Amino acid sequence: MSEQHETPTPDPPSGGNPITPGSQASFGTYRRQPVSFVRRGTRLQGRRQQAWDEHAEAFVIDVPRHVADTSVHPDYVFDADAEFGRPAQEAPLIVEIGSGLGEAIVAAAEASPEQNFLAVEVYRPGLANTLLRIGQRGLTNVRVVQANAPEVLGTMLPPGSVSELWVFFPDPWHKTKHHKRRLVNDSFAELAARVLAPGGVWRLATDWSGYAQQMRSVVAASPDFRNAHDGERAGAASPLTAAWASGADCEPTGETDSVGGWAPRFEGRVQTSFENKALKAGRVIFDLTAVRE
Ligand SMILES: C[S@@+](CC[C@H](N)C(=O)[O-])C[C@H]1O[C@@H](n2cnc3c(N)ncnc32)[C@H](O)[C@@H]1O
Repeated sequence: MSEQHETPTPDPPSGGNPITPGSQASFGTYRRQPVSFVRRGTRLQGRRQQAWDEHAEAFVIDVPRHVADTSVHPDYVFDADAEFGRPAQEAPLIVEIGSGLGEAIVAAAEASPEQNFLAVEVYRPGLANTLLRIGQRGLTNVRVVQANAPEVLGTMLPPGSVSELWVFFPDPWHKTKHHKRRLVNDSFAELAARVLAPGGVWRLATDWSGYAQQMRSVVAASPDFRNAHDGERAGAASPLTAAWASGADCEPTGETDSVGGWAPRFEGRVQTSFENKALKAGRVIFDLTAVRE
């Protein structure tokens, strides 16, 4: 698989020295941070191409771009009421970041027709697959956008417009030198807090113990969120204790997680093929739930 880094991205609108599009400084960055993805193939074939041709007009949000082709122009604001044809008070908006093949969001949209769903994904074949599923089920309450998530949360979605934000199995970026590419960090928490309504819920899941600890720390450090399960599932009940015992994704230490804070599995999260692979490899699944203060 050939990998290509994200194309140039914009300088922060709030000032600083502008980054010249195409310059080294702009390569693979968003607001001076590296983006959390590498570009994979965008070509569609067969059923995915057909699904795109049939359903893109109705379900893909046509976002004005800024510099990169997965960027969002900072002046563009999503109007959910107009897009879904019903007011947000009647149909709360759930946003999934990194929706992959669309398994989770389409299942949830089918189960909850009274809610609106937005899938945010940079991987075009994944979005095409999501369209395929939407079409097969005849859903009307899902839209998809091909865009870099921090830009969607930073400017595209109005403040307080989201009732739930889902980040399930974000790319783990294992190597220490790549940790700066991880999506869930302190600045992402600020963006999540921006879009979530008070009392709104941020749900996270990962199959990597190191990233799970980072997520838990990000939630704990954020003044905008409280961990809905603070202190729960510590000790022998902690998935981290299990991971440390098994050594499936780290050196087995046999230590005990005395902090806890892990949520029970979110029942609205269907088991994706991605999660299946993790389970087959013996990895432990971590769920976290944070509530917007
Ligand atoms: C490991 S996959 C998990 C997919 C899905 N959530 C699941 O559980 O099956 C992570 C996904 O996040 C997407 N992604 C990574 N960084 C992103 C970003 N900045 N904006 C939007 N999507 C992103 C990737 O393209 C990939 O499809």
